[in-house]
Order: sequence, then C-alpha cells, then structure tokens
Amino acid sequence: MVRRVAVVGAGSSGLACIKICLDEGLEPVCFESSDDIGGLWKFKESLEPERTSIYRSLVANTSKEMMCFSDFPMPAHFPNFLHNSMLQQYFRLYAEHFDLLRYIHFQTTVKSVAQRPDFPQTGQWDVVTINKDGEEKEHIFDAVMVCSGHYTHPFLPVSDFPGHETFSGRCFHSWEYKDPDSCKGKRVLVVGIGNSGGDIAVEISRFADKTFFSTRQGTWVIGRMSSSGLPLDMIAITRLNSILMFLLPKTLVNWTAERALNHRYDHTLYALKPKHRLMDKRPLINDDLPGRILIGKLVMKPSLREFKGSAVVFEDGTVEENIAAVIFCTGYIANFPFLPPVLCGGPRGEFTLYKRVFPPSLQQPTLAVLGLFQTKGPIMPIVEMQARWAVRVFKGLSRLPKKEKMLSIIEAERKRNMKSYPCPRQAALQVDYIPYLDFMAKEVGVRPNLMRLLLRDPGLWVKVFLGPCTPYQYRLSGPGQWAGARQAILSQWERVTQPFRTRAVPEPQTGRFTLYSVWLIALAGSVMTAVLLSKSEMMPVMQSAALLLDRCRIFLRDVGFTSEGL
Ligand SMILES: Cc1cc2nc3c(=O)[nH]c(=O)nc-3n(C[C@H](O)[C@H](O)[C@H](O)COP(=O)(O)OP(=O)(O)OC[C@H]3O[C@@H](n4cnc5c(N)ncnc54)[C@H](O)[C@@H]3O)c2cc1C
Ligand SMILES: *[C@@H]1O[C@H](CO)[C@@H](O)[C@H](O)[C@H]1NC(C)=O
Ligand SMILES: *[C@@H]1O[C@H](CO)[C@@H](O)[C@H](O)[C@H]1NC(C)=O
Repeated sequence: MVRRVAVVGAGSSGLACIKICLDEGLEPVCFESSDDIGGLWKFKESLEPERTSIYRSLVANTSKEMMCFSDFPMPAHFPNFLHNSMLQQYFRLYAEHFDLLRYIHFQTTVKSVAQRPDFPQTGQWDVVTINKDGEEKEHIFDAVMVCSGHYTHPFLPVSDFPGHETFSGRCFHSWEYKDPDSCKGKRVLVVGIGNSGGDIAVEISRFADKTFFSTRQGTWVIGRMSSSGLPLDMIAITRLNSILMFLLPKTLVNWTAERALNHRYDHTLYALKPKHRLMDKRPLINDDLPGRILIGKLVMKPSLREFKGSAVVFEDGTVEENIAAVIFCTGYIANFPFLPPVLCGGPRGEFTLYKRVFPPSLQQPTLAVLGLFQTKGPIMPIVEMQARWAVRVFKGLSRLPKKEKMLSIIEAERKRNMKSYPCPRQAALQVDYIPYLDFMAKEVGVRPNLMRLLLRDPGLWVKVFLGPCTPYQYRLSGPGQWAGARQAILSQWERVTQPFRTRAVPEPQTGRFTLYSVWLIALAGSVMTAVLLSKSEMMPVMQSAALLLDRCRIFLRDVGFTSEGL
C-alpha cells in the first residue's frame, strides 16, 4: 500500500504534487533546497549555482486562463500575461488556499534517491536529504515524485568557437543575465533564438548602441496576441483546432498559418525565416522583435563562426567589430544528480521515460518524473495531470503496459518527433498539448465526454469544443471532480476581459452572432471539401479555398466580427 510520497522540489510542479497527493489520501513530504516556493518563478537578485535564475523582466508566454491549475482559476483582475512576480503571487495564493506549506521542508536538499533492497516487492525508496546545517537524514518512502526542474545547468558552448580565449569582450549565459544596465551604449551580440534569447535581445536593444542577434536556423515568430488583441494561446489551443490539425493536409495548415504570419511582417524580409515549416517546431513567442528590427536597433545575423580580438565573425564571413559582450541563450541541460544513473540515461543521452513520466525499467512503478517535456502550450496544467495520473498508478488504480511495450512506444514517439527535432534529446521531450493531456485524462478517468456533454449541456459543450482548452475541462467529472469547474469555464472570458476594463468606453456594435454563424458555416464547408478531396493532387484548389476563407475571415473581422464570447 502506497502511503508516504517524497516530492522533490517546491516549484509549481512540486506544489501541484503535494495538493494531488492530499486529494488522493496520501502523505506527501516535500523537500525544497531553497528557502521559498515557486522554483523558476521566484526571482532572485543574486546567482546561486545549481539553481534556476530568471531575468527581472520575464513575463509568461502563456496566458493566465490557460496556465492555471485546473481547480484554482487566477484572480479575475490579474493581467492575461503575468510578470514573474505575479505568477509567484499566484503560487502563494494556491499554497495558502490548499494549505500546502506545512508539507514542505525548506532548505533541505535531496541528495540521493535509491531503490531499497526489497524494492521488487515493496516498491520503496531510500531518500537521503541534507539540511542547511549539513545534517544528513535518511527516510523511507513508498513513492517518489521528481519535481526538480530542468533549467538549472546552463549549456554554454563558448569553447566551440575559435578565438574565444583571446576575445576581449565578456561572454556569459542567459542564466547570468538579470538586467540590460551593463549594456548601455555598447555593441552586444546575443546568440541563440529561443524565447529567452528573443526577450533578452529585444530588451538590450533598447539600451545598447547596437544589438546583433545570431541564429543558426532562424525561426517563426508569433506574438502573445491574436486578432482583436486576445491571448493567442486561447484562440489556438482548442479541441476543434486539434481535430482540424489532424484531418487537414499538413502542408495546407503550414501554408495558411505561415501566410497569416507573413501578412503581419514578412519573415524573409526580416531575415528571420527558418528552413522548417511553421508547425514543425515551437515558434518564438515575442511581440516586440519585428519592431526592433524595423528601427534597426536589432540586427539579425547568421551563425557565429569565431572570435577575433574584440570582433566576432559570422558564418557568411561578415565581421562586427568592438563587441563588448556576447550572451549565449543556448539553453540548459537537464540533470538529476540524485537519481540512480541507470534511470537517467537513454542510449542516446535522452532520459527514457514512458509518456514522459515513468522510467520503464523499474519493477514497481513508484517513481514519477514531472515537468520534463516541452509543448506548444502551458506547462503547469500538463504537470498537474501527470501528477494525477502518477498518483493513480502508485495506488494501482491505473496500470502501465509491460516493459517491452513501453520501450517500443517510447521509441516510436521519439522517431516521430525526430522529423521536427533532429536531436534525440530534444525529440524525446516533445508532446502534443491536447492529445497528451487527453491520454493521461483517460487513464485517470477525467477526460471530458463530448458526446454526453453535447446532449446534456450544449451551452457548455460549445465552450469546451470550440473554445480554449482551459484546464477546468479536466475537473468536470470523474476522480477529483470540482464543483466550480463548469462555472469556471462559463466565466473564463470574463476573467480575460476584466483586467482591460480600466476606462469606460462606448458600447461595442451588435450583430456579431449572425456573422459568426456565417463564418462557422464557411469553415465547416471548407473542412469537408478539404477532407473529401485527395490530399496532395488538389493542393492548388485547396490553397485557393484557404485564401478565400482567409479573405472571408478578414472581411468578417473588418466588419466587426470577433471571436470573443466563445
Ligand atoms: C525563461 C523561462 C520562461 C518560461 N516561461 C514559461 C511560461 O510562460 N509558461 C509556462 O507554462 N512555462 C514556462 N516555462 C517553463 C517552466 O519551467 C515551468 O513553467 C515551471 O516553472 C516548471 O516548474 P517546476 O516546478 O517543474 O521546476 P522549477 O520551477 O525549476 O522548480 C524546481 C524546484 O526544485 C528545487 N530542487 C531542485 N533540486 C532539488 C533537490 N535535489 N532537492 C530539493 N529541491 C530541489 C529547486 O530549488 C526548485 O525550487 C519557462 C521556463 C523558462 C526557463
Ligand atoms: C508542415 O509542413 C511540412 C512540410 O510540408 C510537413 O512535413 C509537416 O508535417 C507539416 N507539419 C504540420 C504539423 O503541418
Ligand atoms: C515559453 O518560454 C519557455 C522558455 O523559453 C519555453 O520553454 C516554452 O516552451 C515557451 N512556451 C511556449 C508555449 O512556447
């Protein structure tokens, strides 16, 4: 019988695990090496080795309604995209509301987690912790939830570049970056076009004399904002879209979405365009990057080749002199020093985990890794669902397949991802947002039943199927059902609009509903046509159909249609 569960880390993932263990009648004991909750989102002025570190201006790239815990909506007055300090405030509210703090041992680091000699029978673990006075303590646990995060060990490839030893400027990782102050009036190079790279390059470009932004591959850039200024993730992550993505020819989806993006600013003109198609990889989320390029403060560059004194040389042979600093936004390496090494390394250096959670080699499934994945959507609702699933598995209420089956599923999924992410370590991390959530929800027994919903509560069905896939959907029924879930879904757009209501404005036009129906009918028609037509040969026909549809959308938007109210 599983009873006591060790939770390693009290970031957002650890907090969710404590709450879910309590829901399921288990006894969580959480160890947190720092002196506070929040993990990554707890901003600190100083750097501490082996700890996450964020820059002062970091704002979430996923919106509040999409990234909240499923039974704890964010306060209505919070802005839609939260500064790190407000997200930290939300975690505090969550921890206080569910009384989670008393299960956390702060300033206590987990040093090792190892199977007990009788593990094949009991599934128990020996956990060694060390507190701030250096005192070691041994504990026995029935299960372990690893929530230690994967942004602690910066990957800094400086030595890959010839001439780095004699470079006169400063080289450092984005992990060390807090503020743009030190870049005032200087010429700065930012290397690596991830979300942090984008944020940091844009921020520095407001202070520096000139900022160069080097990228090997280029990227598609999307904003936080969709049409009408609504949060893009709420418009994009819907069950309808998820089905369309599956049914429609992939090239058509790519083509239409790329066209819409290039309509705002041409990725070729702005020297951003990558080789890959838009839907192949996670795009960069940044609202300000094109504007900085437009005014010439930020200059896109190809791969860095070498350093030369105070200059940097790029792959295309161009040289930029007098570079005072180079900031490498080249990501992190996940590592779990406290876990038995056999669990950590796959054949190609990737962490082999069944459905990103369970090491397949254990005789008893009593260890779960949470938050070790990447997706085109918010992390927290997925971690919460991972925890709900893991706890069911610990208790034997949900079963994992045989080891060989798990290994073959892992391999198949990795192979599929390799098309978009050629690096095996990256490939192993990717999951599709709604399909992955639904898979786990099915295991837990909380996947929304759309058929039943349509018959019993059509109003709610419209919101669940056509509207954003907000986490509350997974609290409508089944284990862990929350009585407030229906209301949370019905009121989600109110919480989106509330922070904007800071000044009275004349009433908006009416007549939206009819326009909306026209749009839906047009959409349904074209989907059916696209599905009926053969996928490759009819490409030109479908492209014109998409074009027509796009025109129709722009027309509707121009005459006052918005998708608000969904
Ligand atoms: C720059 C940046 C921006 C991001 N923006 C978003 C976003 O907008 N939306 C989104 O959904 N996701 C975002 N993410 C992803 C982010 O990782 C998750 O949102 C989330 O913070 C992960 O939480 P976590 O609890 O898993 O890990 P962390 O927040 O890293 O917490 C891990 C905790 O474990 C503790 N710990 C580690 N090792 C030990 C040990 N051995 N013993 C005891 N304690 C230990 C640490 O001290 C820490 O408190 C972003 C990530 C980065 C790097
Ligand atoms: C995008 O287009 C590429 C190339 O046409 C294709 O290989 C890929 O599968 C498409 N991806 C999606 C999700 O549409
Ligand atoms: C938000 O930024 C983080 C950090 O770069 C990244 O890991 C995550 O995938 C981003 N989220 C989305 C939806 O792109």
